[in-house]
Parts: sequence; structure tokens; C-alpha cells
Amino acid sequence: MGRKLQIDIMRYNPLDENSVPHMQSFFLEEYPSMTLFVALTQLRETQDPSLQFDFCCRAGICGSCGMVINGRPSLACSTQTRDLPAHITLHPLPIFKLIGDLSVDTGTWFRSVGTRLETWIHSNAEFDENAIEERMEDGLAKEIFELDRCIECGCCVAACGTARMREDFLGATSINRMARFHLDPRDNRTAEDFYEVIGNDQGVFGCMGLLACEDVCPKELPLQDQLGIMRRMLAFQSVKNIVPAFLRDKMTCGHDKCGHK
Ligand code: SF4
Ligand code: SF4
Ligand code: FES
Repeated sequence: MGRKLQIDIMRYNPLDENSVPHMQSFFLEEYPSMTLFVALTQLRETQDPSLQFDFCCRAGICGSCGMVINGRPSLACSTQTRDLPAHITLHPLPIFKLIGDLSVDTGTWFRSVGTRLETWIHSNAEFDENAIEERMEDGLAKEIFELDRCIECGCCVAACGTARMREDFLGATSINRMARFHLDPRDNRTAEDFYEVIGNDQGVFGCMGLLACEDVCPKELPLQDQLGIMRRMLAFQSVKNIVPAFLRDKMTCGHDKCGHK
């Protein structure tokens, strides 16, 4: 016999004017290797077909199952119930638009931030359909790939105190994304261009540096390193033009990848 689990779930349907946010308790028996995805699917199939939550890959890849599990943003498909107490509480991720119950719209948030920051390669090169693929040094390709592993689950944004207070805060995931393009030698944007979009309170200078984002990231992305690198690079950029030229040549932001920018 497995444990008897009590799962309290926040219920609310914003499209139903009679719906009032409340917690609803469900009970089910645990079995070995049960994940929260399995538990929620079982609840929906056997107890309440109106329960709303999102899943796609069930393998920690698509980023759609982020929710607040016992107070901590995390992926439900990668969370085994045996790692939780028998009393589990689930809330939808804050900050994102609520679709219903545990389902939130992270896509609109990520799309709007991506458009705002223009998170794509900015190249001045003429497009040549016959050109062969550009080579990239292995180590650099790996560094870029490391930052590209973000699955846009939204957990870091939901855990961020600054994002909770300020709607326009870009969050660690966006800074990480910009750091990825800053590393990429095919992107012709200069330090000034990066400063323009993230060198402000909505970007690197608004972060309180309390690490919640990195703590909850299910992909273990080095978010704090990237925040630090970008903050240093942009702080350097902001003072560069006000120091005498003979000192400027001796200054460095400490980022060994800035040579190409
Ligand atoms: S370290 Fe910065 S980005 Fe990360 S959670 Fe804290 S305020 Fe947000
Ligand atoms: S940085 Fe991590 S926590 Fe944030 S959206 Fe990407 S994968 Fe999720
Ligand atoms: S269902 Fe895809 S990450 Fe959880």
C-alpha cells in the first residue's frame, strides 16, 4: 500500500464570472515512481474532468508544466511524489496570465520579451544562399549551447522578487538569452546596443541578486554567472565614455569574450 496523498489545488476559472479562487483537496493513493503529472492526470480522469493543467513532453523538455509545488516553482512532470510530503499544495505560476487552475500562458510573456529584446541574430552580412555553413570554435559553440538550453518554463520568473514587484522586469531568463547572443560572433550588435535594451532597471540593474532564479531553474542554467557578466559588461560600458582616453585603454570589463564586440 502506498501513502495516501492529499493534493490541495488552487481552482479558478477566470472565464467564468461565478468562479471564485479557492483551494480544493483531492485524495489518491501513491504508487512507486508516481510523478505529479501522473497524479494530476489520474485526478482528472477519475475525479474531476474540469481540472486544468498543462503537459506536453512529460520529460522536462517542453517547459509547459511549470507550477508552484509546495511553495516552489518547479516542473510537475519531473517531480516524483515520493520526494514530497504526503500533503501537497499546488498553485499556478504567478506573473503569467492565468488560463485556469494550474494552467498559465507563459508563451505570450516570452514572445513579448523576445520581441522587445529582439532575441535573434543581428547580422550585417549579405544573405548568400550558396554559402557554406559558418564554422564556430567548439568551445564557444558549447558555451552558447549551454545558455540555449532554457525551456522557457517560467519558473525563474515566478520565483523572482523583482518580477513580482515590477511588471516590466525582464527576468534572469531574458538576460541569459541576451548573454547567449552577446557570445555569438555572428551577432553584430555592439555593447552599446545591448546597453540600450538591458542596461537599465528593467534589465541587469533591476536585479536584486538573491539567486532565487538559479535555485529553481530545472535545467540548472548558470543564470547568476550570466547576470554578473552582463552587468559588469554594461556597467563598464556606461562609464567607458566618461573616463579619460588614456585610462580607457587600460580598462576591461573582465569578460574575455568581449573582444569581438
Ligand atoms: S537574482 Fe535577480 S533575476 Fe534572479 S530572482 Fe533574484 S532579482 Fe530575480
Ligand atoms: S532559465 Fe531555467 S527556470 Fe528560467 S525559463 Fe529557462 S529553464 Fe525555466
Ligand atoms: S511536460 Fe514538458 S516539461 Fe513538463
